[in-house]
Amino acid sequence: MRRPMRVLVIGAGVYVTGRGTDGLGTVLPALAEASRTLSVESVTVAATRAENREVVERVTRSINEILGTNLRTAYVSFTEAISMASAEHAFDCAIVVVPDDKHYEIGSRLLAAGLHILMVKPLAPSVADARRLETLRDDRNLYGVVEFHKRWDESNLAVRRLLEDDCLGRLAYIDVEYSQRRTVPIEHFRAWAARSNIFQYLAVHYVDLIYFLTGFSPVRAMGVGTSGILRAMGIETWDSIHALVEWRSPSDPTRTLLSGFSTNWIDPRATTAMSDQKYRIVGEAGRIDCDQKNRGLELTTELRGSEVLNPYFSQFLSRPGSGQRFAGYGFQSFLSFLQDVQSIVRNEACPGDFAATRPTFRQALVSTAVVEAVNRSLESRGEWRAIDAEG
Ligand SMILES: NC(=O)c1ccc[n+]([C@@H]2O[C@H](COP(=O)([O-])OP(=O)(O)OC[C@H]3O[C@@H](n4cnc5c(N)ncnc54)[C@H](O)[C@@H]3O)[C@@H](O)[C@H]2O)c1
Repeated sequence: MRRPMRVLVIGAGVYVTGRGTDGLGTVLPALAEASRTLSVESVTVAATRAENREVVERVTRSINEILGTNLRTAYVSFTEAISMASAEHAFDCAIVVVPDDKHYEIGSRLLAAGLHILMVKPLAPSVADARRLETLRDDRNLYGVVEFHKRWDESNLAVRRLLEDDCLGRLAYIDVEYSQRRTVPIEHFRAWAARSNIFQYLAVHYVDLIYFLTGFSPVRAMGVGTSGILRAMGIETWDSIHALVEWRSPSDPTRTLLSGFSTNWIDPRATTAMSDQKYRIVGEAGRIDCDQKNRGLELTTELRGSEVLNPYFSQFLSRPGSGQRFAGYGFQSFLSFLQDVQSIVRNEACPGDFAATRPTFRQALVSTAVVEAVNRSLESRGEWRAIDAEG
């Protein structure tokens, strides 16, 4: 089948349209950029509020003007989208960009309607729901991946190669520090921040990354946290979460690796970037330090003070010659999904072909198992929780 792809996007918030920020989000610009090389007929955005229609129209117009593309979008309600999805060939795939606690409910309905899915992280907060999604996907031989874009960040890919080359010898530990401005839970995600937490929402990226970099499996986890600021603002979630995860080598069960996470959702408004993120890997023969915030591009203006920019995630960049393009590892993550779906709907590939090389639902059971273990440990004031990521 050579007809162009029809893409359904569920959610019209910060990540899809940049709503509430001074940007245009990541998902719609990525789809517009991808439409230069892939055959995308239309993008239908579905969410819960009628005002989204105007936002989607305005953002699409701006993106097409900036990129010189011709992306066609339409807005429908979520209920309409589900009934359309059940009709034969209304959509080829869905990109699900809604809060964590809705992933199972929405993902299962879309899989039942026969759509290939790209789900924002985490796959689901609980192992039972994540497994159900994987079973539904497998039963229908659909393609399901999680949008773990850090797997496309070139600094992480360089680290992966160094580890494959055994530069650090036997690994001892990995420390991750990841935090975000308090404006994120207080202003952008007030509606659902209390139903998530900083480990589940943000640190899960690095849980997946450790699995991707090392291939080790998590065996147990513990987490403790502090609270106060967000609670005082009426948001019942942790200010900071600190977790330890023990991992085991698949080839040698005597080899273990510890990872520590220090995360917070209360960085001051005046920090120079929305997210502060860095990690360190220590092995018997060496160490790697990777600062994923301070990458060397800083902008200081009278109007906004100093900002540290990350041009590598998802940005409009100047195109040599004229005009702009949308680029970065965020873009690559969406492009990879759309390329895979195109090859599947054209019968040039099947979902199983990507099992080893993509953050599939099956691979994402690992990060979900860690999220669930840390959440349970937080409830029991830091008790270790066993993890059976394969079982
Ligand atoms: N903002 C980012 O930079 C970013 C990056 C990566 C991943 N994500 C992920 O994207 C998801 C959403 O984040 P966001 O930043 O866009 O949040 P947001 O709160 O701005 O938007 C959430 C969207 O989901 C929609 N929604 C909620 N419940 C729904 C339902 N039952 N049916 C249909 N639509 C529903 C809302 O209408 C809204 O449009 C989160 O899981 C987050 O982890 C966000």
